[in-house]
Amino acid sequence: MKKIVFVCLGNICRSPMAEFVMKSLTDQIEVESRATSSWEHGNPIHRGTQAIFKKHGISYDPHKSSQQISAKDFAKFDYIIAMDESNLNDLRAMLPKNCQDKLYQFADRSVPDPWYTGDFDETYDLIVKGCQAWLTKLEMK
Ligand code: 4NP
Repeated sequence: MKKIVFVCLGNICRSPMAEFVMKSLTDQIEVESRATSSWEHGNPIHRGTQAIFKKHGISYDPHKSSQQISAKDFAKFDYIIAMDESNLNDLRAMLPKNCQDKLYQFADRSVPDPWYTGDFDETYDLIVKGCQAWLTKLEMK
């Protein structure tokens, strides 16, 4: 089974949204999410993202808490997927040379951060489209 990890800055808004949207679309991929930073370490999924899950009937783990990506993760996952360009640049600097080919950006356009925009619906729409595109890319459809 392919192992993928979605990565954003805080691991409380966008990457957990992508994790549980992807899990709602397939059980044929192992999916997790992480942060580039330790800023939100141990904190729960943002209530705006939890509201989106409830609005769209997406199951999620209410006990999931923010976790910074680690060297162990770099080895574990086959696809390390950055939610925006800044996450991509941060990961490029963090990843060992032999893992750089696992690194991807989620979509051509950076996924806006609702931490700053306040617009969780816009982010959700882009994440659903992006996850569907990843399923096709991973030939899971
Ligand atoms: P995320 O959003 O990267 O989509 O989880 C953010 C969450 C927290 C912060 C920034 C962005 N923060 O500054 O703590």
